[in-house]
Amino acid sequence: MSSLQIGPHSVQPPVVLAPMAGITNAPFRTLCREFSGGKGLFVSEMITTRALVERNEKTMQLIHFDASERPRSIQLYGVDPATVGKAVRMIVEEDLADHIDLNFGCPVPKVTRKGGGSALPYKRPLLRAILREAVSGAGPLPVTIKMRKGIDDDHLTYLDAGRIAVEEGVTAVALHGRTTAQHYGGTADWDAIARLKEHVPEIPVLGNGDIWSADDAVRMMRETGCDGVVVGRGCLGRPWLFGDLVAAFEGGGAPAAPTLREVAAVMVRHATLLGEWLGDEARGVIDFRKHVAWYLKGFAVGSEMRKRLAISSSLAELAEGLHALDLDQSWPAGADGPRGRTSGNNRVVLPDGWLRDPYDCAGVGEDAELDTSGG
Ligand SMILES: Cc1cc2nc3c(=O)[nH]c(=O)nc-3n(C[C@H](O)[C@H](O)[C@H](O)COP(=O)(O)O)c2cc1C
Repeated sequence: MSSLQIGPHSVQPPVVLAPMAGITNAPFRTLCREFSGGKGLFVSEMITTRALVERNEKTMQLIHFDASERPRSIQLYGVDPATVGKAVRMIVEEDLADHIDLNFGCPVPKVTRKGGGSALPYKRPLLRAILREAVSGAGPLPVTIKMRKGIDDDHLTYLDAGRIAVEEGVTAVALHGRTTAQHYGGTADWDAIARLKEHVPEIPVLGNGDIWSADDAVRMMRETGCDGVVVGRGCLGRPWLFGDLVAAFEGGGAPAAPTLREVAAVMVRHATLLGEWLGDEARGVIDFRKHVAWYLKGFAVGSEMRKRLAISSSLAELAEGLHALDLDQSWPAGADGPRGRTSGNNRVVLPDGWLRDPYDCAGVGEDAELDTSGG
C-alpha cells in the first residue's frame, strides 16, 4: 500500500485534509480523524505569520491542537521572509507543531492585491527568500508548500516554484490544479500535477483539486503519478469521506453511506466539539451554522427547516430541529458531487506593475501581511 513520507512523518494512506480557513480547526480535524481511524494528515487553517508572532488572541486559539492530534500540522501564510522566519522559529522553540505548510495558493483579492498568496510565487526571488528562512528556521520540522498553477494561463509559476522548493530544502509540494484567475471555477487540471511530478522527482508531490469521492482520489494518484492527495471541499459536511478514503487505499470495501439519522448525529457532535473548543456552547452552535447546508445537501428537508436549523443558537435547539426530520432517509443520489465554492472567472487583483518583471521585488512585501488569521 502506498504511503507518503513528510520528513519524519509517514502518512499512510497518503491522504491529507486541505487547510480551509474557518473550517479545518481542531474540532473538524478531530471529526475527520475519527472517521479515518487516526490515519492521514490534517492541516490547520491558515495562520498569518505576523498575527502569530504578535500572539494575536484569535490566532493563538486557531493554533490549538487536540491532545490526540499527531503530527500537528500548521499552515502559515506570510509574505515577509523575516516574519515567516520568526514565526517558524517560534513554532519550533515553543513546540507548537510537528509540520509546517506554507500557503502560496490563496486567490482572495484582499491577499493577491498585496502580492500575497497565489500572486507571490510570480516573484521568484521573494519565494526563494521565504522558503530559505522557513526551512532554516524549522530545523528538524519538515516544511511543505501548497500552491496553484500560477496567476493565469499566461503566467504559470508552478514548475519554477517546484524547482525553487527543491533547491531550498522543502520536503514536499502540493499543487491545486487551478490558476488564481480560475478561483474555484472550471475543473482542476490534473495534467499539471503529472507535469510537476516529472519536474521535481526529488520530493513528494501532492495533488489537489476536485476530489469528491474516494474513487477520485485513487484515480488522481493513478493518472498523475502523484504521491498523495489533498482533499478540501469534498469533506465539507462529509467528514466521513476520510473513512472512505482510507478504505479505498487499503483495499477494503467502502463504508455504507450514512442515513440522515447518522448525519444528524455527526452534526450534533461537530457542533458540540466546536462549543468545547470555543469554551461556549452557543458560540459553537453559531460557528456550526455555516456547515448546516453542507451536511443536509440533497436530503428532503424543506427550505423552512433548513433555515431554522441554520439559525439554531443552542445544541438543544439544533438537536430538536434535527429530530423533527424524517431521519430514515438514505444518502441522496448526487450528494457526492461538487460542494462549497465552485465559482470562477474572477478578475485577478495584483499590485501595480506586478507582472512586469518576475525578478524585480522592489517594494514587495511591505504592508502585505494580513493581521488576522484564517482569512
Ligand atoms: C472555505 C475554504 C477555505 C480555504 N482556505 C484555505 C487556506 O486557509 N489555505 C489554503 O492553502 N487553501 C485554502 N483553501 C483551498 C483548499 O485548501 C483547496 O486547495 C481547494 O479547495 C481545492 O481543493 P478541493 O477541490 O479539494 O476543494 C480553502 C478553500 C475553501 C473552499
